[in-house]
Amino acid sequence: MSNNVFPSDFLWGGAIAANQAEGAYLAGGKGLTIVDLLPTGEHRRSIMKGNVPAFTPLEGEFYPSHEAIDFYHRYKEDMALFAEMGFKALRVSISWARIFPSGEDETANEAGLQFYDDLFDEMLKHNIQPVVTLAHFDVPVHLIETYGSWRNRKLVYLFETYAKTVFNRYKEKVKYWMTFNEINMLLHLPFLGAGLVFKEGDNIKEIQYQAAHHQLVASALATKACHEIIPDGKIGCMLAAGSFYPYTCNPEDVFQGMEKDRESYFFIDVQSRGVYPGYSKRFFEDHNLHIVMEPEDADILKNHTVDYIGFSYYSSRTTSTDPEVIKNMTSGNVFGSVANPYLAKSEWGWTIDPKGFRITANQLHDRYQKPLFVVENGLGASDEVSPDGEINDDYRIDYLQRHIAEMGEAIKDGVEIIGYTSWGPIDIVSASSGEMKKRYGYIYVDRDNEGKGSLERRKKKSFHWYKNVIQSNGANL
Ligand code: BG6
Repeated sequence: MSNNVFPSDFLWGGAIAANQAEGAYLAGGKGLTIVDLLPTGEHRRSIMKGNVPAFTPLEGEFYPSHEAIDFYHRYKEDMALFAEMGFKALRVSISWARIFPSGEDETANEAGLQFYDDLFDEMLKHNIQPVVTLAHFDVPVHLIETYGSWRNRKLVYLFETYAKTVFNRYKEKVKYWMTFNEINMLLHLPFLGAGLVFKEGDNIKEIQYQAAHHQLVASALATKACHEIIPDGKIGCMLAAGSFYPYTCNPEDVFQGMEKDRESYFFIDVQSRGVYPGYSKRFFEDHNLHIVMEPEDADILKNHTVDYIGFSYYSSRTTSTDPEVIKNMTSGNVFGSVANPYLAKSEWGWTIDPKGFRITANQLHDRYQKPLFVVENGLGASDEVSPDGEINDDYRIDYLQRHIAEMGEAIKDGVEIIGYTSWGPIDIVSASSGEMKKRYGYIYVDRDNEGKGSLERRKKKSFHWYKNVIQSNGANL
């Protein structure tokens, strides 16, 4: 397969998040954060939805983020492997609770700041551009316990302080930033996305949209600060993307598909266009939602829109108004999707749709007319280490090859894409299930779902394949 359409400065690389890779969950004075309260097993989903039993880890539960893959201590070894693959960029996140352990400390925590200084230095040493997310499923637990997290406007200003602190500290080292990872996740897994915990009688939808408003204002204030502090920097939003298809051409299905897309576009419409879209006013009225907005918010949102649209793409989604059809949902998809009879699924039930990637990219570009940055894409699969130590992950190569080819087609369609950082270039903890078994990496990590294993790193077949993709700037898939 040949493809020569990628710009010469295209940012090939990978993406990880502090909470799924670093481990060392209390090292250097770090405070507890959302994912430190997520065990593996059956409670995980209900906790992610906002039914949090306690604000401290519980005896007898296994919390995979506490050690994760120990990236905190092993990043030099990992960076050398990324460099060997030829990475131009690595997307990481800063853990808010390493910088401000309680979220509202008087001064920033020097040990946390130093860790990211060292990490960014190591990347730059290998000519790897850091692409940094400010909040990847990350709120200091103290803020959740004390203020109810993003439902409280106080978080807007605490987040602004945190953002300014890291912009000032890393302004010479980091030029690509993103505010909230998969900002639309807060509608689906509100604790994971925004630290929201619900109690009996709460108007859940109203709290979600109030928290969304606060995150949108905080995102705009961070964008403002980034533009002021790092004039040659770029800051983007980040959407969990994947267009909805109507199951049939019945206008009812088509309309529902449009509405489902808008549920997610809502966030980016505000972050990229700077105003609440007309349809959201109707939505708030129809659902009797009263969202408190301050008089200055409209100007803040209007004047500080993002420079690029970051997005993750794993699957397209399908929707139907037919009660019979919706009995057949795909499992494992956070966003809820009817099974698409034309498409295969991954082991975890996620629909595999390379063409949907091209469709999604085109739609996002048509809508926002800004550069796109693909900051997550990949296949979660279980890998076998053969007796000779090889990991032949042809299924992963096949998935990535077909998606990268469609990304090339999107570029030929006229879509501006500045980079591609595939998810989990080294195996990390799965966000949705907490498993290690659900692997995305080019690099295998010896660790299992129970936390056993040497943590040794090992190259998979896809390591050599991706190296060649980067070396040929996407010409050799
Ligand atoms: C995205 C997240 O939702 O998908 C990542 O931004 C996550 O944090 C990734 O890991 C893949 O999902 P999972 O559940 O397979 O890890």
